[in-house]
Amino acid sequence: MIVSSLNRLKRRLQFTGWLQYLPIAIVAIIFFIGAALSWFLGNRSVAHLLSVIAVLFLIVLMFDILTVKFRLHPQERLPKRNNELDRFDLMRARRSCRSFQTRKLTHADHSELMKSVRLHSEEATIGNAPIRFEYIAAPLTVWPVVCATEFLVAIAPSEYNRLAVINIGRSLQKIVIDATRMGLATCWIGPGADQSSIVRHLGDRFSPAKDHIICVCAIGYKSWYKPLFLRFIQGLQRRRLPLSALFFADLQFKEPLNLKAMPFNRFGRSFEVCQWSPSSFNAQTTRCVAILEPITGQRQEGHKDKSQLLRFDFYATTESRYYAAVALGIWCANWEMGCEALGILGHFAVLSEKERGKDKIRPTLPRYDVSWVLDEGI
Ligand SMILES: Cc1cc2nc3c(=O)[nH]c(=O)nc-3n(C[C@H](O)[C@H](O)[C@H](O)COP(=O)(O)O)c2cc1C
Repeated sequence: MIVSSLNRLKRRLQFTGWLQYLPIAIVAIIFFIGAALSWFLGNRSVAHLLSVIAVLFLIVLMFDILTVKFRLHPQERLPKRNNELDRFDLMRARRSCRSFQTRKLTHADHSELMKSVRLHSEEATIGNAPIRFEYIAAPLTVWPVVCATEFLVAIAPSEYNRLAVINIGRSLQKIVIDATRMGLATCWIGPGADQSSIVRHLGDRFSPAKDHIICVCAIGYKSWYKPLFLRFIQGLQRRRLPLSALFFADLQFKEPLNLKAMPFNRFGRSFEVCQWSPSSFNAQTTRCVAILEPITGQRQEGHKDKSQLLRFDFYATTESRYYAAVALGIWCANWEMGCEALGILGHFAVLSEKERGKDKIRPTLPRYDVSWVLDEGI
């Protein structure tokens, strides 16, 4: 009973946009209590220090509420474009933005963004699952992002199709990177999006019988004003697993891939941009295994290691039907954009167990999803 009331209260605070401020208020209260206890125990200098800290937290809290919740601040400047960045730096420059300026996208930015949406929606998908992106200009109920008013809604068919979910990750990430080049800020929002508010704003562009909303992506101009709690969350999420925990040379996921050795060193920063791709709760659920085949007969000449790289297989580490598949699609996009920038040709394919051959001794997880197959030997 108490738990469910607290949950209801939490949801109410969350979706009215007040929950972001609560943790700092709680921290301030804890410091005040500490100060009161120290005073009571006769330790006045500690009491003084703790009350100063509590007051500082309160000041920050007031500042955040006034500038973010009540938007009392001067208008911020439009950010500059990132045209000078190469593909890899662009993918590294993308970060989830949790606080947006309240101004709308300029007409020029909006039409360039829509061009990117059309371009990447029309590209060949992995498999044939149809997906689409709908643009909404409305203050959707999202968490914990503040002041976002423009969104792309990613929609897959209502009947579950894993490839459609992967394709959403892949196509939307390419749009996100185009937006990053334009200097726009983005944030993928899955669990933090209130589906009923999205459906309401989509109106007749959404059919419950045919469509399933996978996630949304907030797009706009980054704001400097951001609740302290969100700065803290972002600080925590600025971490990634090492490459040795993501790329493997064997199907048991035990032997890290030697990225500095031939032929893997040809892929340069493609590994790094996968490592830094976004995932829900920064769970980093994608893994990759390089598959080589032995070279026999004539073809052995000139190949010291007697094997050649065939493909990279991408796996998900959890059973998650949606967010792990989206994250894997995002990896695919970053991998593809990296290889394209390096001029290495390949394509995505979903291979059967028979085609993959050696996959017999593997447990169910990580689960295979898709391969990137080299078009020519390197
Ligand atoms: C599918 C997906 C869903 C996400 N959902 C949310 C969300 O609901 N709320 C949020 O604030 N961030 C969300 N994120 C952003 C992740 O928290 C973020 O990507 C991750 O922490 C890594 O940080 P970075 O994007 O700044 O590199 C989501 C990301 C992905 C890929």
